[in-house]
Amino acid sequence: QTIPQMRGLPLALHGTIIHTLDASTLEILQDCLLIIDSDGKIEKIFKDTPADKVNACISQAGHSPDVFPVKYLRRGEFLIPGFIDTHYHAPQYAQRGLGRDQTLLEWLENVTFAHERKFEDVAYAKRMYTACVQAGIKQGVTTASYYGSVHVEATKILAETCLEQRQRAFVGKCNMNRSSPEWYRDVSAEESLKETRELVAHVRSIDSEGKLVKPILTPRFAITCDDTLLSGLGRIVDETPDIHVQTHFNEAVDEMEYTRQLYPQFQHEADLYDEFGLLGPQTILAHSIFLKEEEMDRIKAKGCGIAHCPISTATLGEFMMAPIREYLRRGIKVGLGTDVGGGFSSSMLDIMRHAFIISKARETFTKGADPALKLNEGFFLATLGGAQVCGIHDKVGNFIEGKEFDALEIHTIGSEPCGSLGVMSPIEDEDSIEAIFEKFLMTGDDRNIAKVYIAGQSVKETA
Ligand code: GUN
Ligand code: FE
Repeated sequence: QTIPQMRGLPLALHGTIIHTLDASTLEILQDCLLIIDSDGKIEKIFKDTPADKVNACISQAGHSPDVFPVKYLRRGEFLIPGFIDTHYHAPQYAQRGLGRDQTLLEWLENVTFAHERKFEDVAYAKRMYTACVQAGIKQGVTTASYYGSVHVEATKILAETCLEQRQRAFVGKCNMNRSSPEWYRDVSAEESLKETRELVAHVRSIDSEGKLVKPILTPRFAITCDDTLLSGLGRIVDETPDIHVQTHFNEAVDEMEYTRQLYPQFQHEADLYDEFGLLGPQTILAHSIFLKEEEMDRIKAKGCGIAHCPISTATLGEFMMAPIREYLRRGIKVGLGTDVGGGFSSSMLDIMRHAFIISKARETFTKGADPALKLNEGFFLATLGGAQVCGIHDKVGNFIEGKEFDALEIHTIGSEPCGSLGVMSPIEDEDSIEAIFEKFLMTGDDRNIAKVYIAGQSVKETA
C-alpha cells in the first residue's frame, strides 16, 4: 500500500474577495466561502454565504466540516489575488536606487554589470537570491519573471531558491555575448546556448511538471546578442515545448539607436526579434515605449505580452511614458513589472501607483485621447493582466474554481493610533469596502499583507 503524498491541508476561508474578471470588471464579493483542495486549487466558491451557513456549504461540497479548518475574515480584511511581477532582474536586488541620473546604456556599464558579475560566486548568489525571493513574497509577489545573471550556476540556484520558498517563477539565464566588458559576458554564442539548454534542463528536473518554476529564454536585448546567439535561441524555442521568452524591447532612445546600428537590416525591433523566431504568445516584452504602428500590429498578431515598468522608465535616463491605454485599446496583453534594479522599488503596490501617475501624465500629454488608468485597471494589470502576459491566466490571476489559490490576505485595521495598520490611511466606521480597498491600494504596504498563499500553501504569516 502506498501512502499518497501530502501536498497541504484542505483549507476554507470565509469573507470578502476582491478580484478582476478582465481589464474593466472588478468584483467585490462579500460573504464568500472558498474551499481550497489539498492540491492548492480552488475547489468551490460559495457566494452570498453568511457565516451560519458555512458548515452546510462544506457538507454540500461533500466534505466533513470537522476536517476543514475555516478561517473567518473580519471587517477590514479581504483576499486579493497574488501580485505578478512580469519583469525582475534578480541579480540587481542589491543595487536598487543606484545610478538614476544616467542613461540606460551608461547605467548598465557603470553600475549594473559590476553588480551582476558578483554572481559568479555561488555562495553570494545563494545569499542574495534567498533575500530577494523572501522580499518578493513578503510584498505579496506570488509569481515573478526573473532575469538571472550571465552565470548558469547562479541561475540554477535562483530557480532552486524559488522552489524552496515556493514562489511561482520563470527563471532565465541572461544571454549576452557582446557589448559588455570582457569580464561580464558569455564567452561565445555556442557556450551561451549550451548553458541555456543546461539551465532549461535543470529547471525542468527540479520541477518536472512545471508546477511552480519554469525556464524562460532571456536574451538581455539585441545589443548584447549577436545573430548566431539570437538564431540559436530561436532554434531552442522551436525545439522546446512550452518554453517562454523575455527581452527588453524599445526601451530607450540610446538603446534603439544602437540596435539600429548593429542590425541595420531590420525596419524595427519587432522585425528583428520576429526574424529570429523569438516572438510568440509566450514572449514577454519589457518596457515597449516607442512602438511603431506596424510593431503594435505584429506583437498583437503574435500574441506577445508587455511588461510595463513605470518606475524604471520614468527614472532611468529620460522620463518615458509607455502608451498603455493604446495597448489596452488594441487588446495587447499588458502586465506590470518592477524592473528591479532599474526600478528602485520591489513593491507591486508602488508600481501600480506609478502606473497611475504615468498614465495621468500621458492623459494630459495626449490632451485626453489616452485616458488615465482607473483603479480597477491598475489592479487588473498587477494581477490577471500579469498572468496573461506570463501565459498562466488559466492557472492564476483571479479567483475562479479550478484555478490555483495564489492569494494575499490583506489586513487594514490594527491597534495603532486611529486604528490603522502600518501607515495606511486609517479606516473609519463609515468606510465602505470599496473605500477600504482603495485606501489599501493607494496607501498600504507590506505590513498590510498578513498572509501570502501560493498554490494553497501559506508562505508568509504575520497574523
Ligand atoms: N536593457 C538591457 N539590460 C537591461 C537591464 O538590466 N535593465 C533594464 N531596465 N534595461 C535593460
Ligand atoms: Fe529590465
